Amino acid sequence: MCGIVGFVGKNIKVDYFIDGLKKLEYRGYDSSGVSYDDNGKFCTIKKEGRIKDLEKELGDIVNKNVNVGLAHTRWATHGGVSDENSHPHTNEDNKISVVHNGIIENFQELRKELISRGHVFRSSTDTEVIPHLIEECYRGNLLEAVIEAIKKLEGAYAIGVIHSEEPDKIVAARKGSPLVVAGNEELSIIASDVTPILKYSKEVNFINDGEIVELFGNNYKIFDLSGNPIERKPIHIDWDEELAEKGGYEHFMQKEIFEQPVSIKSAISGRIKNGQPCVKEIENIKSFIENDLKKIYVVACGTSYHAGLAFKYFMQNHSDINVEIEVASEFRYCNPNVNKNTLVIAVSQSGETIDTLEGVRLAKNKGAYVLAMSNVVGSTIPRESDSVVYMNTGPEIGVAATKTYTAQIAVLYSIGSQIMKWKNQYSTETEKIIKDIENLPEIYKKVLDNEDHIIELAREYVNYKHMMYIGRGTGYTAALEGALKLKEISYIHASGYQAGELKHGPIALLDESFPVFAIVPFNGLREKMISNIMEVKARKARVIAIVTENDEKVIEIANEVIKVPETSEDILPLTVAPVTQLFSYHIAVLRGLDPDKPRNLAKSVTVE
Ligand code: AGP
Ligand code: GLU
Repeated sequence: MCGIVGFVGKNIKVDYFIDGLKKLEYRGYDSSGVSYDDNGKFCTIKKEGRIKDLEKELGDIVNKNVNVGLAHTRWATHGGVSDENSHPHTNEDNKISVVHNGIIENFQELRKELISRGHVFRSSTDTEVIPHLIEECYRGNLLEAVIEAIKKLEGAYAIGVIHSEEPDKIVAARKGSPLVVAGNEELSIIASDVTPILKYSKEVNFINDGEIVELFGNNYKIFDLSGNPIERKPIHIDWDEELAEKGGYEHFMQKEIFEQPVSIKSAISGRIKNGQPCVKEIENIKSFIENDLKKIYVVACGTSYHAGLAFKYFMQNHSDINVEIEVASEFRYCNPNVNKNTLVIAVSQSGETIDTLEGVRLAKNKGAYVLAMSNVVGSTIPRESDSVVYMNTGPEIGVAATKTYTAQIAVLYSIGSQIMKWKNQYSTETEKIIKDIENLPEIYKKVLDNEDHIIELAREYVNYKHMMYIGRGTGYTAALEGALKLKEISYIHASGYQAGELKHGPIALLDESFPVFAIVPFNGLREKMISNIMEVKARKARVIAIVTENDEKVIEIANEVIKVPETSEDILPLTVAPVTQLFSYHIAVLRGLDPDKPRNLAKSVTVE
């Protein structure tokens, strides 16, 4: 999420920081700020809005020469979008200034402790605990203080720290969020990715989790958490800036597909722990859920609707809690049965989809409690809802939803299992599913290893004009999403069906020109799916089966197979998603289309 840039050297123009932030702009942000040394005192200027708003606030200061400083573009996760919540954050006497990307999960506990020891907070961010903690640990050596302080932090972070008593250095640390460091004859630089660095050096060092780096003059040193130096040669980066923005991937969509091991971890962080749900954001409605809740109603569009549908199956499979779902543009006009005993969950990645927003307004008018789920802090749907759970996946730039879709399902399952727990319906079976979600980062690494095989398949199928995706249960929701992704970015006609529905009509379409993707779970409905595959094959249509490893029977009968690790059936939409996303992506690329900007589509749909 978002961007850090820091410089140490002689006569560094404040403008360098602005230039660096602009290079990180593509990552998405809602506010920005900078701290720099001004003759032994730190000056911090920060502003909600665009970088040009910060530039305006800085005025002539952009031409000032400084020796050390840190800048940041924030993408709010904790605390609304405002000047006060923008970074850098400082301690009371402004001697310590900190920028942070990521989430400090135990910030509430730390904040309470720090306040009880007399610290005064000026923002509502999780980040602000860091400068106060460092202040408490500081005994004349910033590196040691940062090492001591970060041992108290839980969660994911990349941080940059400066101290006015050591105005010739930056100390930075990483656990979970990216950091890159480099130096040249004149300066050293730290940043969230290589884009702001390439102008100064192509010899960069990627900081690993659990490492601290100290930048001084035109040099830097890396340490482990015990303060032992780590010797590692920089690597040479050949990328131009455009390639660097995409982390070396050809398109944002591909980068975002490959981010899923990390984005899913971030989405469930603080919401699931050791097989147990702990969704703090809905604690305020615990008594409503225990005593008054009669029905959950999900309202969403497109991919978000598919995530909601997977949630409905999950809740139905494991509880007697009544869940309904409707596409938002229909919900508004179908006189939905919602009232003060209904929890409406409005799922919207962008938080701006007008159909979903109108659904929220209608549900509120009918007296329902509305919980928003979004990836964009401060967007309209969360603002108009009663409360919100953010997905925390970092901004998604490709128009097609990929990493936000898997995060939506994982967060919805966390919310659902929390509700089951409060309703005394949390079984060991559900606990197993929740544990599978915790294992997803590892599972995703394996699934994404299939890319070469998927490229081969894409080459083979690129010229077909139609495709069908079939599944049952949660596999059906995965089929719907697979088909949507294909038509969105490759413009190949595709539809998703419940496999059992084939014989009621769609099977009439099938022949050798109409391949079928079959999503086959290992247990439960597998035998039924095998029968459906046989029906498809009897019509001479080719079958691409997504199967769990070792499913020899399906491997034998399908024309092609893509294997995914075996998990509980409810996890199927999550394991299948990267496969169908990559397939659609490579088909689009092979057809010479731009997958990041599909024709006629927008990232947030603000028309009805
Ligand atoms: C997803 O790939 C699509 N671009 C689209 O279906 C999207 O999911 C839909 O417009 C809903 O958007 P939202 O999640 O921002 O509300
Ligand atoms: N969690 C921090 C905040 O909300 C940092 C967000 C970011 O990565 O920009 O301020």
